[in-house]
Amino acid sequence: MPDRDPPASTPEPLLSARGIAKRYGAVRALEEASLSVRAGEVVALLGANGSGKSTLGKIITGITRPDAGTLTFDGAPLHLSEPAQARRRGITAVYQELSLVPDLSVAENVWLGHEPVRRGGIDRRTMKGRTAELLASFAGVFSVPVEPDTLVDSLPPSERQLVEVVKALAWRPRLLVLDEATASLDARQVDRLFELVRGWREGGMAVVFVSHRMNEIFRVADRAVVLRNGVTVGERRIGEVDEQELVQLMTGGGAVAAIALEGHDAPGAAAAPPGATEAPVVLELRRFASGVVAPLDLTLRQGELVGVGGLQGQGQSRLLLALFGAVPHQGEVRLEGAPVAFRNPRQALRAGVAYVPGDRNREGLLPVRPILENLQLPNWRRYGTPLRMERARRDAAAVVADLDVRLASLDEPVANLSGGNAQKVVIGKWLSRRPKLLLLDDPTKGVDVNAKAELYRLLARLQAQGTTILFHSSDDAELLGLCQRVLVMQDGRVTATLEGDTLDQRHLVAAAMGAQGAGAA
Ligand SMILES: Nc1ncnc2c1ncn2[C@@H]1O[C@H](COP(=O)(O)OP(=O)(O)OP(=O)(O)O)[C@@H](O)[C@H]1O
Ligand SMILES: [Mg+2]
Repeated sequence: MPDRDPPASTPEPLLSARGIAKRYGAVRALEEASLSVRAGEVVALLGANGSGKSTLGKIITGITRPDAGTLTFDGAPLHLSEPAQARRRGITAVYQELSLVPDLSVAENVWLGHEPVRRGGIDRRTMKGRTAELLASFAGVFSVPVEPDTLVDSLPPSERQLVEVVKALAWRPRLLVLDEATASLDARQVDRLFELVRGWREGGMAVVFVSHRMNEIFRVADRAVVLRNGVTVGERRIGEVDEQELVQLMTGGGAVAAIALEGHDAPGAAAAPPGATEAPVVLELRRFASGVVAPLDLTLRQGELVGVGGLQGQGQSRLLLALFGAVPHQGEVRLEGAPVAFRNPRQALRAGVAYVPGDRNREGLLPVRPILENLQLPNWRRYGTPLRMERARRDAAAVVADLDVRLASLDEPVANLSGGNAQKVVIGKWLSRRPKLLLLDDPTKGVDVNAKAELYRLLARLQAQGTTILFHSSDDAELLGLCQRVLVMQDGRVTATLEGDTLDQRHLVAAAMGAQGAGAA
């Protein structure tokens, strides 16, 4: 291995965290974590769900106080008692949980707490002007118009996420933590963000980058630091490590459960039941439309796993919600040949249709209620009256074990779980129901490699049992790896259906961008 001598004047780290520990009751979120990042360096912080990444990010940015350990910034000890203090020092973050105030405009959100002032009042003109300048970095990749005056409430998740980035930039950070900030962005938006990150790096900014998408880490980071169960277990230069080794570090060298999702020869295609086209029709749509979703015809057969892709926010979620009866629709729906018209999700559930939402904060969970209750919410009928708690608990424990949800107890509130573990609970809710038709709305966002692999296996199992699955994902590799057929949506219309020879990365990207002749519609 070439001995790459560090340059004679290797700069001191801008930030270094040493021996950080943090407990929440009986849960040790961090035990012995360390991390350092230099000016002009992008460090990827990796680890399985619940390994402590967000906790460490929150400690660096003054949101959470550590129980033990030291922080130094710019060569001096750093003691933070609140986020404002960190921001004043030039340390800020973009988190996976969005923090914008829906009722305020983009500009008001971006400058909240440090509004430009003039003659004793808020200088709205300057505020809007500076916001417009910052928004210009993302010109051309917004899927809806975003102006300083736009109300945040009217924006889809991907645009909100970009506004979060802009908000962080308004503090002119020297150190920026991006905690799964790419999870709800589409491919173009991620590309742009990475261009910007490279520019910031040139300009001397230090970046800590958290993501569960391995390809992103290899594209943008200089170095990777790996956390396992709250302990920093390794550190590698990106040029000197491969994905396999990082996954080994994350999982402790045990069996690597990751399924390689490269091309459609990976798990899904292999799981395709032979003669699938002969299987009975489960779902039939004729001129089905809802909101932005333009009239479409679609036939899904028993045991089919069909993907829905395209750029973020092109009507994919709306399509699934409409099928689930959560929003109104027009046109005809037949389920196993019988006409149905669900006016609410309860009717859909009763007919054997289940829906796994992607946005865990808004739709999937009751955060303050216990994990057990959240898991069994859709199932409680099965446990009779009075409730057979023992059985409900045992079944919940099995789901938790299946998905490797890291928790202290089934009785703690979901709000205590890490982002990825909470999403596993959302998925877990539906697994034991054996639906006829399973609607998945970007379910693996923020879920770690092992849990993803576990979910893929579960999908294959459900498919083998005859469940029909409609699977929206913002992760192209997932669509290509799992699905036999992928519908690509743009502006509410299905503009291409990829299968067989056209089911590859090139066609998928081309179709998502609206390129002509990308696939037969
Ligand atoms: N406020 C809290 N109360 C109780 N436990 C918590 C709290 N915040 C975090 N934890 C626990 O600390 C551990 C680390 O959580 P953290 O959010 O840092 O993980 P993470 O690495 O960011 O995971 P993910 O990839 O899922 O986002 C988890 O076991 C989590 O349940
Ligand atoms: Mg996290």
